[in-house]
Amino acid sequence: MNYKNAYKKLKQYNQLHLLEHYHSLNASGQKSLLAQIDDINFDILDVLNCKEENNNADTVPIEALQIETIRSKEEIYKKTGLETIKKGELALVLLAGGQGTRLGYPGPKGTFNVGITKDLYIFELLIMHTLKVVEEADTWIPFYIMTSDKNHDETKAFFKKHNYFGYNPAYIFFFRQEMVPSVDFGGKVVLEEKGKICMSPNGNGGWFSSLDKAGLLEGILHSNVKWINVFSVDNVLQRIADPVFLGAIIEENYESGGKVVKKVCPEERVGVLCTKNNMPYIVEYYELTEKMRNEKNADGEYAYNYGVTLNYIFPVSKLISIMNEHMPLHVVKKAIPYIDEDGNPVIPSAPNGYKFETLALDMIRFMDNCLPFEVDREKEFAPIKNAAGADSIDTARELLKKNGIEL
Ligand code: UTP
Repeated sequence: MNYKNAYKKLKQYNQLHLLEHYHSLNASGQKSLLAQIDDINFDILDVLNCKEENNNADTVPIEALQIETIRSKEEIYKKTGLETIKKGELALVLLAGGQGTRLGYPGPKGTFNVGITKDLYIFELLIMHTLKVVEEADTWIPFYIMTSDKNHDETKAFFKKHNYFGYNPAYIFFFRQEMVPSVDFGGKVVLEEKGKICMSPNGNGGWFSSLDKAGLLEGILHSNVKWINVFSVDNVLQRIADPVFLGAIIEENYESGGKVVKKVCPEERVGVLCTKNNMPYIVEYYELTEKMRNEKNADGEYAYNYGVTLNYIFPVSKLISIMNEHMPLHVVKKAIPYIDEDGNPVIPSAPNGYKFETLALDMIRFMDNCLPFEVDREKEFAPIKNAAGADSIDTARELLKKNGIEL
């Protein structure tokens, strides 16, 4: 793309400021900026003008499969789950492409050291949890790791340096998610350097198509894999490849499932698995009205009582059939690095603009049904989102200790 075409393209989207420093760049800087402008699909910015209607009229919470029931059938579920894993029918996808802006840690979140008297990294903990199932099933489980351009090399190098924490490297695959431009609150795409447009990971919702674009779906299709367990990087207590969870989905004839925890209070900031117009749907905490939050069911329990934890199992066949479906794009406030008027880089400490993200939880909408599978939050829910306060390093450390994990 030459300067003239870039100018024309940007004018159409009201983004001409991106060429403001063009003439101060050297030849390779100019070439690189023009290539970035060429690559970006600015249509994504249209979402800023859409006001999605929030109508909860047909939203009904799905009853969770509760811990007591799970315990009473645990042996059956576990047997089925383990047999399925032994047959090589389960693969794992770790979503590690996020930037963890709330934690404020400079490296990939998985490289964060939660240890106190010894090193114990988040990635290490996730691998440790998975190794338990690998041992029990006596088979390696393919472990896919989604990264982004911002942390791919560092993540890969970290695993290599630590010998994959004992996992068989032949079963670990890294792939990158796509990037989209970030904007300031006025809708202007942000320059991170004079010749560099600020790009951010496009959310965790595109993981399956990114897996495909990376050429890894081929391998899955040529294997026995029928199910994918997808999960976040930050819940350091979660059970991954949980045979009881997988077995419950199969035994109870569900198409997919999501691990849920009992909310600590009606206001807790977690999504709730529901149906909307009879299709599975996760209602976000900010979509719950006061009335919905406090609604009780016949047992006297809060109706919207179970929050999702970003640990889902989906069938591969369905994921393939929905790959080209339109996923809703969410506009999220984030702290975005930018350059000031003199061209000096600034790293803001508070949100100063928007990123655009699709979310894995929206995949639920395309499933015929989804089983909310309750897990004990004291044993399986220790997310590290913030540096301090709720869902932080301190709360996670406390829970890890309670569960007998030496720090
Ligand atoms: P979060 O919603 O917590 O986002 O991600 P984040 O970017 O990690 O953190 P904040 O909001 O900036 O503080 C939930 C999970 O989804 C992954 C994260 O790595 C985490 O495992 N994720 C998020 C991606 O893989 N890609 C993304 O673009 C966003």
